[in-house]
Amino acid sequence: MPDKIFIFDTTLRDGEQVPGCKLNTKEKIEVAQALEALGVDIIEAGFPISSPGDFESVAAISAHVKDVTVCGLTRAVEKDIEVAAEALKKARHPRIHTGIGSSDIHIKHKFNATREQILERAVKATAYARKFVPDVEFFAEDAGRADLGFLARMIEAVIKAGATVVNIPDTTGYCLPHQYGERIAYLVNNVPNIDKAVISCHCHNDLGLATANSIAGAIAGARQIECTINGIGERAGNTSLEEVVMVIKQHQSLGLYTGIHTEHLNPISQLVSETMRVPVQPNKAIVGMNAFAHSSGIHQDGFLKQAETYEIIRPEEVGAAGSLIVLTARSGRSALAHRFRKLGYEFNRNDVDVLYERFLVVADSKKEVEDADLKSLAHQYEKET
Ligand code: KIV
Ligand code: ZN
Repeated sequence: MPDKIFIFDTTLRDGEQVPGCKLNTKEKIEVAQALEALGVDIIEAGFPISSPGDFESVAAISAHVKDVTVCGLTRAVEKDIEVAAEALKKARHPRIHTGIGSSDIHIKHKFNATREQILERAVKATAYARKFVPDVEFFAEDAGRADLGFLARMIEAVIKAGATVVNIPDTTGYCLPHQYGERIAYLVNNVPNIDKAVISCHCHNDLGLATANSIAGAIAGARQIECTINGIGERAGNTSLEEVVMVIKQHQSLGLYTGIHTEHLNPISQLVSETMRVPVQPNKAIVGMNAFAHSSGIHQDGFLKQAETYEIIRPEEVGAAGSLIVLTARSGRSALAHRFRKLGYEFNRNDVDVLYERFLVVADSKKEVEDADLKSLAHQYEKET
Protein backbone atom coordinates (compact mmCIF):
# COMPACT_ATOMS: atom_id res chain seq x y z
CA MET A 1 0.00 0.00 0.00
CA PRO A 2 1.39 3.44 -0.88
CA ASP A 3 1.90 5.95 1.94
CA LYS A 4 -0.01 9.22 2.03
CA ILE A 5 1.91 12.49 1.82
CA PHE A 6 -0.06 15.19 3.62
CA ILE A 7 -0.15 18.42 1.65
CA PHE A 8 0.25 21.49 3.87
CA ASP A 9 -0.48 24.60 1.86
CA THR A 10 1.09 27.85 3.06
CA THR A 11 0.08 30.12 0.14
CA LEU A 12 -1.86 32.31 2.56
CA ARG A 13 1.02 32.62 5.06
CA ASP A 14 4.51 32.12 3.57
CA GLY A 15 3.18 32.87 0.07
CA GLU A 16 1.45 36.02 1.17
CA GLN A 17 4.71 37.34 2.69
CA VAL A 18 5.78 38.29 -0.86
CA PRO A 19 5.79 42.10 -1.21
CA GLY A 20 2.62 43.29 -2.94
CA CYS A 21 0.75 40.01 -2.50
CA LYS A 22 -1.39 40.98 0.48
CA LEU A 23 -4.95 39.73 0.19
CA ASN A 24 -8.02 40.96 2.01
CA THR A 25 -10.15 38.58 4.06
CA LYS A 26 -12.69 38.02 1.28
CA GLU A 27 -9.96 37.08 -1.19
CA LYS A 28 -8.34 34.79 1.39
CA ILE A 29 -11.61 32.96 1.97
CA GLU A 30 -11.97 32.48 -1.78
CA VAL A 31 -8.45 31.01 -2.04
CA ALA A 32 -9.00 28.84 1.08
CA GLN A 33 -12.19 27.38 -0.37
CA ALA A 34 -10.39 26.65 -3.64
CA LEU A 35 -7.63 24.93 -1.64
CA GLU A 36 -10.23 22.85 0.15
CA ALA A 37 -11.75 21.81 -3.21
CA LEU A 38 -8.24 21.01 -4.45
CA GLY A 39 -7.91 18.49 -1.62
CA VAL A 40 -5.10 19.90 0.52
CA ASP A 41 -4.91 18.45 4.03
CA ILE A 42 -3.82 21.56 5.92
CA ILE A 43 -4.21 25.26 5.17
CA GLU A 44 -1.81 27.59 6.95
CA ALA A 45 -4.14 30.57 7.03
CA GLY A 46 -1.83 33.21 8.49
CA PHE A 47 0.18 34.52 11.42
CA PRO A 48 -2.57 35.78 13.74
CA ILE A 49 -0.50 38.01 16.02
CA SER A 50 1.16 39.79 13.11
CA SER A 51 -1.78 42.14 12.41
CA PRO A 52 -5.50 42.54 13.13
CA GLY A 53 -6.14 41.76 9.44
CA ASP A 54 -4.27 38.46 9.68
CA PHE A 55 -6.13 37.56 12.87
CA GLU A 56 -9.46 38.28 11.17
CA SER A 57 -8.52 36.19 8.11
CA VAL A 58 -7.46 33.17 10.18
CA ALA A 59 -10.69 33.43 12.19
CA ALA A 60 -12.82 33.76 9.03
CA ILE A 61 -11.12 30.83 7.29
CA SER A 62 -11.56 28.75 10.47
CA ALA A 63 -15.28 29.43 10.26
CA HIS A 64 -15.64 28.83 6.50
CA VAL A 65 -13.45 25.79 5.87
CA LYS A 66 -14.63 22.55 7.42
CA ASP A 67 -12.95 19.54 5.85
CA VAL A 68 -9.38 20.73 6.20
CA THR A 69 -7.10 21.40 9.16
CA VAL A 70 -6.62 25.16 9.63
CA CYS A 71 -3.27 26.23 10.98
CA GLY A 72 -1.98 29.49 12.49
CA LEU A 73 1.71 30.39 12.82
CA THR A 74 3.30 31.68 16.02
CA ARG A 75 6.73 32.41 17.39
CA ALA A 76 7.73 30.47 20.50
CA VAL A 77 6.07 33.19 22.54
CA GLU A 78 3.11 32.68 24.91
CA LYS A 79 1.17 35.73 23.70
CA ASP A 80 1.49 34.60 20.05
CA ILE A 81 0.15 31.18 20.99
CA GLU A 82 -2.81 32.61 22.92
CA VAL A 83 -3.74 34.87 19.99
CA ALA A 84 -3.44 32.01 17.49
CA ALA A 85 -5.63 29.79 19.67
CA GLU A 86 -8.24 32.54 19.80
CA ALA A 87 -8.16 33.02 15.99
CA LEU A 88 -8.56 29.26 15.47
CA LYS A 89 -11.47 28.91 17.93
CA LYS A 90 -14.03 28.17 15.22
CA ALA A 91 -11.87 25.67 13.31
CA ARG A 92 -13.13 22.11 13.29
CA HIS A 93 -9.53 20.88 13.07
CA PRO A 94 -7.23 23.60 14.47
CA ARG A 95 -3.45 23.37 14.46
CA ILE A 96 -0.95 25.72 16.08
CA HIS A 97 2.39 25.97 14.27
CA THR A 98 5.01 27.23 16.69
CA GLY A 99 8.77 27.15 16.62
CA ILE A 100 12.14 28.81 16.88
CA GLY A 101 15.53 28.99 15.13
CA SER A 102 17.67 25.88 15.34
CA SER A 103 20.93 26.81 13.56
CA ASP A 104 23.80 28.44 15.43
CA ILE A 105 23.53 31.44 13.06
CA HIS A 106 19.94 32.01 14.20
CA ILE A 107 20.62 31.18 17.84
CA LYS A 108 23.51 33.64 18.03
CA HIS A 109 22.38 36.48 15.78
CA LYS A 110 18.59 36.42 16.09
CA PHE A 111 18.24 35.37 19.70
CA ASN A 112 21.61 36.14 21.28
CA ALA A 113 21.05 32.93 23.23
CA THR A 114 22.62 29.54 23.89
CA ARG A 115 21.47 26.21 22.46
CA GLU A 116 20.20 25.17 25.91
CA GLN A 117 18.10 28.33 26.27
CA ILE A 118 16.59 27.77 22.82
CA LEU A 119 15.80 24.17 23.67
CA GLU A 120 13.98 25.30 26.78
CA ARG A 121 11.92 27.84 24.84
CA ALA A 122 11.05 25.26 22.19
CA VAL A 123 9.76 22.79 24.77
CA LYS A 124 7.86 25.47 26.70
CA ALA A 125 6.13 26.79 23.58
CA THR A 126 5.12 23.32 22.40
CA ALA A 127 3.73 22.33 25.78
CA TYR A 128 1.90 25.66 26.06
CA ALA A 129 0.33 25.29 22.60
CA ARG A 130 -0.85 21.79 23.53
CA LYS A 131 -2.94 23.35 26.31
CA PHE A 132 -5.10 24.96 23.60
CA VAL A 133 -5.22 22.41 20.76
CA PRO A 134 -4.46 18.69 20.37
CA ASP A 135 -2.57 19.24 17.10
CA VAL A 136 0.70 21.17 17.46
CA GLU A 137 3.33 21.47 14.78
CA PHE A 138 6.82 22.58 15.79
CA PHE A 139 9.17 24.25 13.28
CA ALA A 140 12.94 24.18 13.79
CA GLU A 141 13.74 27.25 11.69
CA ASP A 142 16.87 27.02 9.51
CA ALA A 143 17.13 23.29 10.20
CA GLY A 144 18.91 22.97 6.84
CA ARG A 145 21.99 24.60 8.40
CA ALA A 146 21.60 23.41 12.00
CA ASP A 147 24.01 21.13 13.82
CA LEU A 148 22.46 17.72 13.24
CA GLY A 149 23.04 16.42 16.77
CA PHE A 150 21.42 19.52 18.26
CA LEU A 151 18.53 19.35 15.78
CA ALA A 152 17.89 15.75 16.80
CA ARG A 153 17.85 16.75 20.50
CA MET A 154 15.42 19.55 19.76
CA ILE A 155 13.08 17.29 17.82
CA GLU A 156 13.20 14.63 20.52
CA ALA A 157 12.39 17.23 23.18
CA VAL A 158 9.43 18.81 21.37
CA ILE A 159 7.90 15.41 20.58
CA LYS A 160 8.15 14.63 24.30
CA ALA A 161 6.45 17.98 24.98
CA GLY A 162 3.55 17.04 22.71
CA ALA A 163 4.38 18.04 19.11
CA THR A 164 2.29 16.00 16.66
CA VAL A 165 4.18 17.26 13.60
CA VAL A 166 7.85 18.28 13.39
CA ASN A 167 8.77 20.67 10.62
CA ILE A 168 12.38 20.62 9.35
CA PRO A 169 12.64 23.81 7.28
CA ASP A 170 15.40 24.50 4.83
CA THR A 171 14.61 28.16 5.47
CA THR A 172 17.35 29.56 3.26
CA GLY A 173 17.06 27.02 0.45
CA TYR A 174 20.68 26.00 1.07
CA CYS A 175 20.65 22.19 1.05
CA LEU A 176 21.33 19.89 -1.86
CA PRO A 177 18.67 17.18 -2.27
CA HIS A 178 20.88 14.36 -0.94
CA GLN A 179 21.87 16.50 2.06
CA TYR A 180 18.28 17.36 2.91
CA GLY A 181 17.26 13.71 2.50
CA GLU A 182 20.14 12.64 4.77
CA ARG A 183 18.98 15.11 7.45
CA ILE A 184 15.50 13.58 7.45
CA ALA A 185 16.94 10.05 7.44
CA TYR A 186 19.19 10.95 10.39
CA LEU A 187 16.16 12.11 12.40
CA VAL A 188 14.18 9.01 11.41
CA ASN A 189 17.03 6.78 12.59
CA ASN A 190 18.23 8.65 15.66
CA VAL A 191 15.33 10.42 17.38
CA PRO A 192 13.56 8.24 19.95
CA ASN A 193 9.78 8.19 19.46
CA ILE A 194 10.05 9.90 16.07
CA ASP A 195 7.14 7.72 14.96
CA LYS A 196 4.89 9.63 17.38
CA ALA A 197 5.06 12.68 15.09
CA VAL A 198 4.76 13.33 11.37
CA ILE A 199 7.95 14.73 9.84
CA SER A 200 7.35 17.71 7.57
CA CYS A 201 9.47 19.22 4.77
CA HIS A 202 9.42 23.00 4.35
CA CYS A 203 11.86 23.99 1.62
CA HIS A 204 12.68 27.34 0.07
CA ASN A 205 13.79 27.79 -3.49
CA ASP A 206 16.86 30.03 -3.31
CA LEU A 207 18.88 27.58 -5.42
CA GLY A 208 15.90 26.26 -7.38
CA LEU A 209 15.97 23.02 -5.36
CA ALA A 210 12.83 23.28 -3.22
CA THR A 211 10.86 20.62 -5.10
CA ALA A 212 13.83 18.24 -5.36
CA ASN A 213 14.60 18.69 -1.65
CA SER A 214 11.00 18.07 -0.59
CA ILE A 215 10.87 14.88 -2.64
CA ALA A 216 14.22 13.77 -1.16
CA GLY A 217 12.73 14.40 2.30
CA ALA A 218 9.66 12.31 1.48
CA ILE A 219 11.82 9.47 0.15
CA ALA A 220 13.74 9.56 3.44
CA GLY A 221 10.57 9.26 5.53
CA ALA A 222 8.87 12.69 5.81
CA ARG A 223 5.11 12.39 5.36
CA GLN A 224 4.06 16.05 5.06
CA ILE A 225 5.19 18.57 2.46
CA GLU A 226 4.70 22.32 2.94
CA CYS A 227 4.20 24.16 -0.30
CA THR A 228 2.45 27.02 -2.09
CA ILE A 229 0.48 27.43 -5.29
CA ASN A 230 2.82 28.57 -8.10
CA GLY A 231 5.71 28.25 -5.62
CA ILE A 232 5.19 31.81 -4.41
CA GLY A 233 6.87 32.81 -1.17
CA GLU A 234 9.71 34.69 0.49
CA ARG A 235 12.59 35.60 -1.87
CA ALA A 236 12.78 32.85 -4.55
CA GLY A 237 9.68 31.21 -3.11
CA ASN A 238 8.59 27.96 -1.49
CA THR A 239 8.18 24.45 -2.82
CA SER A 240 5.59 24.54 -5.57
CA LEU A 241 2.50 22.49 -4.70
CA GLU A 242 1.72 21.53 -8.29
CA GLU A 243 5.27 20.26 -8.83
CA VAL A 244 5.53 17.99 -5.77
CA VAL A 245 2.04 16.63 -6.33
CA MET A 246 2.74 15.74 -9.95
CA VAL A 247 6.18 14.28 -9.17
CA ILE A 248 4.49 11.96 -6.67
CA LYS A 249 1.71 11.11 -9.13
CA GLN A 250 4.03 10.51 -12.08
CA HIS A 251 6.48 8.37 -10.09
CA GLN A 252 4.31 5.71 -8.51
CA SER A 253 7.45 3.69 -7.81
CA LEU A 254 8.05 6.08 -4.89
CA GLY A 255 5.19 4.33 -3.12
CA LEU A 256 3.57 7.64 -2.19
CA TYR A 257 0.30 9.41 -2.99
CA THR A 258 -1.53 12.66 -2.15
CA GLY A 259 -5.21 13.49 -1.89
CA ILE A 260 -4.97 16.30 -4.47
CA HIS A 261 -7.55 16.50 -7.27
CA THR A 262 -5.02 17.38 -9.92
CA GLU A 263 -7.56 18.71 -12.45
CA HIS A 264 -7.91 21.75 -10.14
CA LEU A 265 -4.23 22.67 -10.44
CA ASN A 266 -4.39 25.08 -13.38
CA PRO A 267 -7.59 26.85 -12.28
CA ILE A 268 -6.23 27.47 -8.77
CA SER A 269 -2.90 28.61 -10.20
CA GLN A 270 -4.76 31.27 -12.19
CA LEU A 271 -6.88 32.28 -9.20
CA VAL A 272 -3.79 32.80 -7.01
CA SER A 273 -1.93 34.59 -9.79
CA GLU A 274 -4.85 36.96 -10.37
CA THR A 275 -5.76 37.68 -6.75
CA MET A 276 -2.13 38.15 -5.70
CA ARG A 277 -1.26 39.93 -8.95
CA VAL A 278 1.84 37.77 -9.54
CA PRO A 279 2.13 36.43 -13.10
CA VAL A 280 3.12 32.79 -13.58
CA GLN A 281 6.36 32.44 -15.55
CA PRO A 282 5.54 30.99 -19.01
CA ASN A 283 7.84 27.98 -18.63
CA LYS A 284 6.63 27.09 -15.11
CA ALA A 285 6.22 23.33 -14.75
CA ILE A 286 2.59 22.11 -14.80
CA VAL A 287 0.88 25.54 -14.80
CA GLY A 288 2.95 27.81 -17.07
CA MET A 289 1.32 28.81 -20.37
CA ASN A 290 4.06 26.95 -22.27
CA ALA A 291 3.91 23.78 -20.13
CA PHE A 292 2.08 22.01 -22.98
CA ALA A 293 3.25 24.10 -25.95
CA HIS A 294 5.41 22.60 -28.69
CA SER A 295 7.26 24.89 -31.04
CA SER A 296 10.19 23.13 -32.70
CA GLY A 297 9.64 21.08 -35.84
CA ILE A 298 11.12 17.85 -34.44
CA HIS A 299 8.96 18.01 -31.31
CA GLN A 300 5.82 18.97 -33.22
CA ASP A 301 6.25 16.11 -35.67
CA GLY A 302 6.74 13.59 -32.83
CA PHE A 303 3.88 15.01 -30.80
CA LEU A 304 1.48 14.89 -33.76
CA LYS A 305 2.36 11.23 -34.32
CA GLN A 306 1.93 10.30 -30.65
CA ALA A 307 1.46 12.83 -27.80
CA GLU A 308 3.53 10.76 -25.31
CA THR A 309 6.67 11.35 -27.39
CA TYR A 310 6.97 14.80 -25.83
CA GLU A 311 4.36 14.98 -23.07
CA ILE A 312 4.58 13.05 -19.80
CA ILE A 313 1.32 14.51 -18.46
CA ARG A 314 -2.00 14.89 -20.23
CA PRO A 315 -3.02 18.59 -20.02
CA GLU A 316 -6.57 17.72 -18.89
CA GLU A 317 -5.11 15.79 -15.94
CA VAL A 318 -3.93 19.10 -14.48
CA GLY A 319 -6.83 21.21 -15.74
CA ALA A 320 -4.85 22.89 -18.55
CA ALA A 321 -6.66 24.03 -21.70
CA GLY A 322 -4.85 21.53 -23.94
CA SER A 323 -1.65 21.04 -25.87
CA LEU A 324 -0.55 23.82 -28.15
CA ILE A 325 1.30 23.69 -31.45
CA VAL A 326 2.92 27.08 -31.85
CA LEU A 327 3.90 27.94 -35.40
CA THR A 328 7.29 29.66 -35.61
CA ALA A 329 10.26 29.67 -37.94
CA ARG A 330 11.37 26.49 -36.13
CA SER A 331 8.19 24.61 -37.11
CA GLY A 332 8.14 21.93 -39.79
CA ARG A 333 5.85 20.87 -42.61
CA SER A 334 3.82 18.42 -40.52
CA ALA A 335 2.80 21.10 -38.02
CA LEU A 336 1.89 23.45 -40.87
CA ALA A 337 -0.16 20.77 -42.68
CA HIS A 338 -1.87 19.90 -39.38
CA ARG A 339 -2.85 23.53 -38.76
CA PHE A 340 -4.15 23.97 -42.33
CA ARG A 341 -6.31 20.87 -41.84
CA LYS A 342 -7.63 22.28 -38.58
CA LEU A 343 -8.52 25.48 -40.43
CA GLY A 344 -10.44 23.44 -43.01
CA TYR A 345 -7.96 23.37 -45.92
CA GLU A 346 -7.20 20.11 -47.73
CA PHE A 347 -3.75 20.65 -49.25
CA ASN A 348 -1.73 17.83 -50.77
CA ARG A 349 1.98 17.28 -50.19
CA ASN A 350 3.10 19.48 -53.11
CA ASP A 351 0.82 22.31 -51.99
CA VAL A 352 2.30 22.12 -48.49
CA ASP A 353 5.83 22.24 -49.91
CA VAL A 354 5.09 25.50 -51.73
CA LEU A 355 3.15 26.96 -48.83
CA TYR A 356 5.89 26.00 -46.40
CA GLU A 357 8.45 28.19 -48.23
CA ARG A 358 6.03 31.14 -48.04
CA PHE A 359 5.25 30.34 -44.42
CA LEU A 360 8.97 30.56 -43.53
CA VAL A 361 9.19 34.06 -45.00
CA VAL A 362 6.29 35.15 -42.77
CA ALA A 363 7.69 33.25 -39.78
CA ASP A 364 11.07 34.97 -40.07
CA SER A 365 9.36 38.34 -39.82
CA LYS A 366 7.48 37.66 -36.56
CA LYS A 367 7.67 35.65 -33.36
CA GLU A 368 4.61 33.50 -33.98
CA VAL A 369 2.56 32.84 -37.11
CA GLU A 370 -1.16 33.33 -36.45
CA ASP A 371 -4.13 31.62 -38.05
CA ALA A 372 -4.94 34.88 -39.84
CA ASP A 373 -1.50 34.78 -41.55
CA LEU A 374 -2.15 31.20 -42.68
CA LYS A 375 -5.59 32.03 -44.02
CA SER A 376 -4.14 34.83 -46.09
CA LEU A 377 -1.36 32.51 -47.43
CA ALA A 378 -3.98 29.88 -48.28
CA HIS A 379 -6.26 32.43 -49.94
CA GLN A 380 -3.44 33.78 -52.14
CA TYR A 381 -2.34 30.24 -53.04
CA GLU A 382 -5.86 29.16 -53.98
CA LYS A 383 -6.20 32.20 -56.24
CA GLU A 384 -3.00 31.20 -58.09
CA THR A 385 -3.87 27.54 -58.58
O1 KIV B 1 10.95 29.08 6.19
C1 KIV B 1 10.69 28.87 7.38
O2 KIV B 1 11.51 28.42 8.18
C2 KIV B 1 9.34 29.19 7.82
C3 KIV B 1 8.96 28.81 9.22
C4 KIV B 1 8.26 29.93 9.90
C5 KIV B 1 8.14 27.56 9.18
O3 KIV B 1 8.55 29.69 7.06
ZN1 ZN C 1 9.17 29.40 4.99
